[in-house]
Amino acid sequence: MPRDEWIDPTPTPIEQAEPLADESGLRPRSLDEFVGQRELKERLSVILEAARARGQAADHLLFGGPPGLGKTTLAGIVANELGAHLHVTSGPAIERAGDLASILTKLEAGDVLFIDEIHRLPRPVEEVLYPAMEDLQIDVMLGKGPAARSIRFDLEPFTLVGATTRTGLITGPLRDRFGFAFRLEFYAAEDLESIVKRAATVLGLSITQQGASEIARRSRGTPRIANRLLRRVRDFAEVRSDGVLDQESAADGLHLFGIDERGLDKVDRSLLENLCLHFKGGPVGLSTLAISIAEPTETVEDVIEPFLIQQGLLMRTPRGRVALGAAWQHLGLEVPSDPPVVVDLASGEETLFG
Ligand SMILES: Nc1ncnc2c1ncn2[C@@H]1O[C@H](COP(=O)(O)OP(=O)(O)OP(=O)(O)O)[C@@H](O)[C@H]1O
Ligand SMILES: [Mg+2]
Repeated sequence: MPRDEWIDPTPTPIEQAEPLADESGLRPRSLDEFVGQRELKERLSVILEAARARGQAADHLLFGGPPGLGKTTLAGIVANELGAHLHVTSGPAIERAGDLASILTKLEAGDVLFIDEIHRLPRPVEEVLYPAMEDLQIDVMLGKGPAARSIRFDLEPFTLVGATTRTGLITGPLRDRFGFAFRLEFYAAEDLESIVKRAATVLGLSITQQGASEIARRSRGTPRIANRLLRRVRDFAEVRSDGVLDQESAADGLHLFGIDERGLDKVDRSLLENLCLHFKGGPVGLSTLAISIAEPTETVEDVIEPFLIQQGLLMRTPRGRVALGAAWQHLGLEVPSDPPVVVDLASGEETLFG
């Protein structure tokens, strides 16, 4: 049967997916332009070069890590470096197995399919993906009831790139079908400095070394935040220092937007304040803590906590969240003399990639 006959005529989720364009000017297009994550870059460049040399699709790749560290950017780079077409969609956008089937059967040899938030794929859809990833085949059910029959389609070789902020939520069978799983780490200050300088050039701003390092230092280890802060403080520089972003205008601008010395914003601080003041430093359950700052638990877990944990301000324990001494100090509070449970990091912290 020709492929198009059974395909649902409604628009595929590809068209509804979030475009890559929003941050496009600042997104590095090649691995060379991608700053930081050195180990990941080295491994990835070998994988891509080997695929290019063989003239074959690269193995399926999974990128995990907190928001804004470059997962979507890397998906674009993978396609670019392979000289392949990029198709973009996301877990929640693919509601039915048929949606995925129609995306997969449209792929041409060597194409890259990027599924963002892949941990949110509905289970029945995920099951269609397994044989597609492994054997380049999918089985599609046609019709309903006793007349239903299953038809097998062969797919062209493709590379699946999955991104997730929640590696822990990826099912074992799905994870096992990726050739490589990469974990993105928070960026070092000097990497963020280069990112800020590069973004300033792209945006046509002049920035001093100290201005760049001030912004970098307060960016929560996250390129997206660095770029956002840069845009926010640019007005400040225009008024203060003839358009040159120096340390003073950066610091004043960031202060105005509620970003503190450590790069924490108001929400970060209010989480720590609630934890220390209302819950005596914990342990307190995630949902209680989330309600206390009126944020969804997913936001607390995926967006707010990873950086606080990395900074040694907060700890996840089996009994709940605990504020560490540095959190009390950062808020200018006295560190309690009988600290709440201290749990071994290795067993208490939720880890992503075992
Ligand atoms: N290594 C890098 N070098 C330079 N800029 C980067 C780098 N990583 C990310 N960026 C910048 O940060 C922004 C956010 O990156 P990206 O959208 O890829 O993050 P993400 O991991 O996909 O986030 P999310 O989980 O929210 O989807 C991009 O616009 C890009 O400009
Ligand atoms: Mg993304």
